Amino acid sequence: MSLQTLKLAFKEALKTQYENIELNSLLSILFEHVTGWNQLNQVLHKDAPLSQQQMDTLQNALEQLKEGRPIQYITGKAWFLSNEYVVNEQVLIPRPETEELVDWIIEYAQIIDKPLQILDIGTGSGCIPIALQLALPHCSISGLDISEEALTIAKQNAMQLNATVSWLQEDILSTTYLPNKYDIIVSNPPYIPFRENVNMQVQVKQFEPSIALFVTNEDPLIFYRTIARLGKLYLNPNGQLFFELHYDQGKALLALFDEMGYHAELRQDMFGKDRMLRASLKK
Ligand SMILES: C[S@@+](CC[C@H](N)C(=O)[O-])C[C@H]1O[C@@H](n2cnc3c(N)ncnc32)[C@H](O)[C@@H]1O
Repeated sequence: MSLQTLKLAFKEALKTQYENIELNSLLSILFEHVTGWNQLNQVLHKDAPLSQQQMDTLQNALEQLKEGRPIQYITGKAWFLSNEYVVNEQVLIPRPETEELVDWIIEYAQIIDKPLQILDIGTGSGCIPIALQLALPHCSISGLDISEEALTIAKQNAMQLNATVSWLQEDILSTTYLPNKYDIIVSNPPYIPFRENVNMQVQVKQFEPSIALFVTNEDPLIFYRTIARLGKLYLNPNGQLFFELHYDQGKALLALFDEMGYHAELRQDMFGKDRMLRASLKK
C-alpha cells in the first residue's frame, strides 16, 4: 500500500477524534517517525509503497492514537526549545509555556552575567535544566525529582544533548535539606487540583503521570509554599525563585509570596494568561 493511501485511511479513521489541522500534523509526525521522510519528502514519495514492517508499526500507532495516547509517547520524542527529548509515560510532555519560563530565566541570567548555581525542582524529562545548561554553559545546574524513572529519562536526555547537569532524587515536600545554595531555584511543580480531572483531555489525564500533574484540592499551592520556605534557607543573596503556575492561581500566589516575605511578579504566556512568577526575598 502507498504512503498516500495509508495516510488517507488513517485520516478517515481518526477524523471524528481530532481537528483537521491537528490530525494533519499528527500524521505527518507519525509518518516521518516511521519512514524517516519529512513533510516535503512525504509529498514527493506519496506513491512509494510501504514495507510490511512499516505498515505494522503504523497500524499499531493508529490503535494507540484511537485510544488517545499522545503522539509524543508513541514516537518517544518531544521538542523543547529546538531540541529533541526522549519521553515516556513516566515524564510530563514538555509544554510551550515552560519554554517561555526558561526564556525568562535565560534573559535574567544574561543580565546578571556571572556563573550562577541553578536548581530545577520537579525536573521530569530534564527539559528545564538541560535547556538552561545549553544556553548558559558557565552556570552549574541541578535537576531534582522524586521519581527515579523520570530521572532515568532526564539523564538520558542530558547525555544525548551533551548537557552537564547534576541530578538528585528527593521528595521536596519532606526534605529540609538541599546540597547547595542557589542563585536561582526554578520549578514547574504539580499544580492541578484533583477536582479539575473531570474537565481534562483524556490524552493528558489518562496518559501523563498523575504525580506530575495533580495536587490535593485542599492545598493546591503546597509546592510553592514548600519551595518558598526552602528558598529562605537555600537562596544566595539576591537569589530568585522562578515558577510556572496554573493560569488562575496568579493572585493567590502573589498573596502567598507576599505573606512569606517575598516580592513577586507575574508574567503572562503568549495567550495573555498568568503563567509564570518570579520572586525574591524582601530586603
Ligand atoms: C509538572 S511536572 C514538570 C516536569 C518538567 N519540569 C517539565 O516542566 O516538563 C512536575 C514534576 O514534579 C515531580 N514531583 C512530583 N512530586 C514531587 C515531590 N514531592 N518531590 C519532587 N518532585 C516531585 C514529578 O515527578 C514531575 O516530574
